[in-house]
Amino acid sequence: MQTTLVLLKPDTVQRGLIGAIISRFENKGLKISWMKLVQLPKSIVEEHYDFLADKPFFPGILAYMTGSPVVAMAITGKDSIKTVRMLTGATNPTEALPGSIRWDFALSIDANIIHASDSEETAAKELKRFFSEWEIYSYEKISDKVVA
Ligand code: CMP
Repeated sequence: MQTTLVLLKPDTVQRGLIGAIISRFENKGLKISWMKLVQLPKSIVEEHYDFLADKPFFPGILAYMTGSPVVAMAITGKDSIKTVRMLTGATNPTEALPGSIRWDFALSIDANIIHASDSEETAAKELKRFFSEWEIYSYEKISDKVVA
């Protein structure tokens, strides 16, 4: 079992797409382990995207990600990191496969609806970044045994 971090970005919240996107993960059989709606401080966004700090579009990312709330989620399941990335699709929506979340809902690379961790190492770091120790717990879902 793996747990990965997903952020539903401000455009998802503003466009009323939270439910539509969460249902993609639930329909696949993945478990929402933890979830919250949160307005991100600039410091967290700077840390999260520090590898993009020298890019010309970095100020735009900062403004976008801090401008209105995001939904932060931990998603658990068998190979959830890869599965969530496949459901999410390529970073640039024009390169994402039809049927993926970004193809179906996003129109631009800068407002691309969703972020998902890309490896086990990144997921561990990102889950820690967005969830405090007191927010972390585990629970059984009746379907766990069916889909695991
Ligand atoms: P995400 O998967 O959250 O990881 C890095 C983010 O940087 C990416 O989604 C995009 O939102 C953003 N990004 C990557 N490339 C560009 C670009 N060329 N122009 C604007 N934003 C970008």
